[in-house]
Amino acid sequence: MKKRVLSGIQPSGKLHIGNYFGMIKRMVEYQESSDLFLFVANLHSLTTLQNKDEMKNLTLEAAMDMLALGIDPEKCHFWVQSDVPEVAELTWILSCLTPMGLMERATSYKDKIAKKLGANLGLFSYPVLQAADILIQQAELVPVGKDQKQHLEMSRDIAAKFNNTFGETFTIPKPDIPKDVAVVPGTDGQKMSKSYGNTIPIFDDPKVIKKAVMGIVTDSKGVDAPKNPDKCNVFALYKLFASKEERVGMANEYRKGKIGYGDAKKALLQKIQDTFEPFQKKREYLAKHPKKVEKILEEGAKKVSKNTLKTLEKVRKATGLRY
Ligand code: ADP
Ligand code: TRP
Repeated sequence: MKKRVLSGIQPSGKLHIGNYFGMIKRMVEYQESSDLFLFVANLHSLTTLQNKDEMKNLTLEAAMDMLALGIDPEKCHFWVQSDVPEVAELTWILSCLTPMGLMERATSYKDKIAKKLGANLGLFSYPVLQAADILIQQAELVPVGKDQKQHLEMSRDIAAKFNNTFGETFTIPKPDIPKDVAVVPGTDGQKMSKSYGNTIPIFDDPKVIKKAVMGIVTDSKGVDAPKNPDKCNVFALYKLFASKEERVGMANEYRKGKIGYGDAKKALLQKIQDTFEPFQKKREYLAKHPKKVEKILEEGAKKVSKNTLKTLEKVRKATGLRY
């Protein structure tokens, strides 16, 4: 039996290279070797994105981005979260088993409040919806970036609590967070994130991408000065794209003062262009044919519904809600 792998991505802005290395690239690989479930998490986005047109556009664009980057609906389950509304029923059921203490420890909620994103109940209970996403498909492995680690722990706790209360029902999911790409830094050195405005987008006007790369913050060492590659944001990003030889070569040039930050940025920009160029045409094609994308998503929702209902029926029986 193939391993069941699941992840979701919020349609909250343009996809960036942090998303690519933290999640999407691995999902494209997983669809060859496992039973992959991937969805656009628009119900999660609703906690912060409350504009009808933006929601519609960003949902379709996230789907287009992932299809362009290699997600193949023939090889996996690919759908939009709100098209399979049964997950909301499971969210309620799970929320009745979720201790307040567990929720109050959630750091992502605290972070968002600290950033004055405006508290709402959805933002607070966000991890329960995430647990429902994962558990309803009986996922075994969840590839995400490090920022999602706590949410995965909460999903595991909630699953265990349910199993203890009502009998073995859910698979306990494991996070899949590879060390080397756990946190891709943004142009300012913090975690790359749409909400920090420090991203390098994957699909955008080449001028915008160039501006982002050239704007990466470095120290002020001159071209000839020896530099520490391990303390440099440009190198940290370059490393993700480079072969081992290229990585070692660039690190040596840094240490010997043979490369300035400007040239390092140019090398990084070239890598970004080379990596994503093959996907641009497909992305442009999909943008011109939104109906095709809608059809793919509609089929995807149908395909995943069977699996969803199977688990939900088990839950309804286990809890006595199916009387
Ligand atoms: P953002 O922080 O830009 O809003 P999301 O929260 O939508 O990104 O993340 C989507 C996926 O991409 C998640 O699996 C997340 O862990 C991963 N991801 C996002 N930013 C990074 C990053 N800087 N490094 C590694 N993975 C990331
Ligand atoms: N919370 C995740 C993020 O912001 C998105 C997400 C929603 C997700 N449901 C999920 C990720 C289930 C993995 C599994 O990136």
